[in-house]
Amino acid sequence: MNKIQILKPDDWHLHLRDAEALKRTVTDVASHIHRAIIMPNLVPPVTTVSEAQAYRDRILAHKNKTSFSPLMTLYLTDNTTVDEIKAAGDSPFVVACKLYPAGATTNSDSGVTDVTKLDKVFEAMTEAGLILCIHGEVTDNDVDIFDREKVFIERHLKPITDRHPNLKIVLEHITTQDAVDFVLESSDNIAATITAHHLILNRNDLLSGGIKPDYYCLPILKRQAHQKRLQNIVLESHPKFFFGSDSAPHGQHKKYNACGCAGIYTAPVMLCLLAEFFEQHQSLSHFEPFVSRYGAHFYNLPLSDESITLTKESWSVPSKLPFGDDEIVPFFAGKQLSWRICDV
Ligand code: NCD
Ligand code: ZN
Repeated sequence: MNKIQILKPDDWHLHLRDAEALKRTVTDVASHIHRAIIMPNLVPPVTTVSEAQAYRDRILAHKNKTSFSPLMTLYLTDNTTVDEIKAAGDSPFVVACKLYPAGATTNSDSGVTDVTKLDKVFEAMTEAGLILCIHGEVTDNDVDIFDREKVFIERHLKPITDRHPNLKIVLEHITTQDAVDFVLESSDNIAATITAHHLILNRNDLLSGGIKPDYYCLPILKRQAHQKRLQNIVLESHPKFFFGSDSAPHGQHKKYNACGCAGIYTAPVMLCLLAEFFEQHQSLSHFEPFVSRYGAHFYNLPLSDESITLTKESWSVPSKLPFGDDEIVPFFAGKQLSWRICDV
């Protein structure tokens, strides 16, 4: 097959950053992504509806003539109030709240220190029909970084789902067999997003033959058996598992550093990579549901009425892109991709 047309995809987990960076990040998705769940981990974080509205306006200023629609999220803290949740529920553009355990990842210092104290907030979210997006990793220093997702599920997520069975939850950027099993065993209110990079890479890619800062992200890449489980569930096509890129840009100076930032900038290549992934596994027909259908269904939103076309045409990914006053190395920099998105 040399051409595929799919409904315009959604990205259910995207970092756009702010200010100057928006020029790069919004342009790199706006023409081929219909809607995206916008992560609120700015500095300072987006914790109120009015901050989300102002951030949304700054994003929209860069969408040009596209129909790109940012779906906003509020960053939960120890001080999030029920009134703010109610206001979010009333707002037409806030669709979810994001739970970062404090210290779990980039810009999560203001995150939640004790999830058991959020019961009132979760009740209000259930009432308001807001979705809870979770970065599912514990932060304890005595838990190995490769086990943090599994331990979070046992220690925190299972109790949250037991206490709040009607709350809709997305366990984000899952990386383990344990997460796949948990989501499959849970009610229909529990779903998961999967990134392109966790499908394509495992921890050998990050660490074997030299450390690759461009492959460092959180949750960290896991062993191959976990990667295979993610691949299988996506290739089988299951409505509880949909695409969230977690495209997370950091300028080159912040990545190539003695204390390099976590985050991989996949936005310019993610759909082409996924097309290649599905094709290599003789499953191209499962590409569209993963990127354009299952997430919308879970979020109770209509499917896109636009489409995009990809053609089989080799191109090389630029080695660097301008990024504010720095540069950024996109995922797959300098490598060849076999699918290209046609201009619209
Ligand atoms: C994200 C970022 O840079 O904001 N980094 C990452 O490695 N994925 C934060 C996150 O989603 O964990
Ligand atoms: Zn993220």
